[in-house]
Amino acid sequence: MAAEDLREADRIFRVAFATYLGVDPQTSMSGRAMVRGRFGTDPSGAIAAVDGGEVIGSNFMANWGSFGFFGPLTVNPTRWKQGIAKRLMEETMARFDAWRTKHAALFTFADSAQHQTLYQRFGFWPRFLTGIMHKVPSDSSMRSSARYSQLTRDQQPAALAEARDLCNELLEGLDVSIEIEGIAGQSQGETILIRSDSRLEGIALCHFGSESEAGDKSLYVKFAAARPGPNVEKTFAELLGACEALAVDNGLPDIEAGVSTETVGAYKAMIRLGFKPAYFGVFMLRGGGSAVYRPDAYVVADLR
Ligand SMILES: CC(C)(COP(=O)(O)OP(=O)(O)OC[C@H]1O[C@@H](n2cnc3c(N)ncnc32)[C@H](O)[C@@H]1OP(=O)(O)O)[C@@H](O)C(=O)NCCC(=O)NCCS
Repeated sequence: MAAEDLREADRIFRVAFATYLGVDPQTSMSGRAMVRGRFGTDPSGAIAAVDGGEVIGSNFMANWGSFGFFGPLTVNPTRWKQGIAKRLMEETMARFDAWRTKHAALFTFADSAQHQTLYQRFGFWPRFLTGIMHKVPSDSSMRSSARYSQLTRDQQPAALAEARDLCNELLEGLDVSIEIEGIAGQSQGETILIRSDSRLEGIALCHFGSESEAGDKSLYVKFAAARPGPNVEKTFAELLGACEALAVDNGLPDIEAGVSTETVGAYKAMIRLGFKPAYFGVFMLRGGGSAVYRPDAYVVADLR
């Protein structure tokens, strides 16, 4: 994908979902700058389907070390059912192969035979439901947690190394550095760092604002993880508390975060903390195991 393709790719992204969901394209995905943001974070993970110079579809892959996922995959509705998504998927798989992605995944509509059939063809199989959780933020008592944007440029590489160390305990080789830097570099939000005895115990990557993947009035927790161990649940609650404080500080009336029901401890904890599911999608994974999600993992990895 080239920078000049972004405008049309973004238009197709909005119109494709609106057509599929039967909603107004003007308000569909309102405020969510996914196309521009994902291109900005990693242009090497952005692909466009082009016919006669015209963009007709696109897809975006995220390279999180040993783990990768893709989306939004969209095709211009005037060109549906002509095999364009399949071509985009072939190229998507080639990128994952080039990156040596060990665990490739996606989030999609749980009730769509069309989507399941398409992705199964490429080796992705449905796993657990992901709940898209919401909460009206009100508690700002956790506002003292450290934030990535407060670190100097000299301090940031060490923080990224600490984040890699934490993520490695969840899944060997998991690395969300590219996402942390993408958020910081594009003013898409903030990364929260929770420490105890100077060790990084938790991290949350939050999107908000007009350049972000969050909706108009939301703080969107794209990734959060608490270090496994006896304090994991406490750290997870502190992380979500810090996200809530960030939402309150920025005058946002909603927090959203997709949590897998496979990480059942985290799902239950979020319900206890006042989050409610708005709807469910399904996590699809290529290969065995469950990658980032395990029943004892306190993680939010929202793959929308
Ligand atoms: C989903 C979407 C990308 C598919 O694009 P497309 O170019 O029309 O898809 P293709 O023509 O390549 O078809 C791919 C496969 O989808 C499946 N499929 C398509 N229509 C189907 C239907 N009505 N029933 C069952 N399977 C269907 C088939 O497996 C098909 O392969 P086949 O024709 O060889 O059987 C497109 O409909 C879209 O943009 N939808 C809105 C956004 C969206 O839902 N994105 C995905 C979010 S995870």
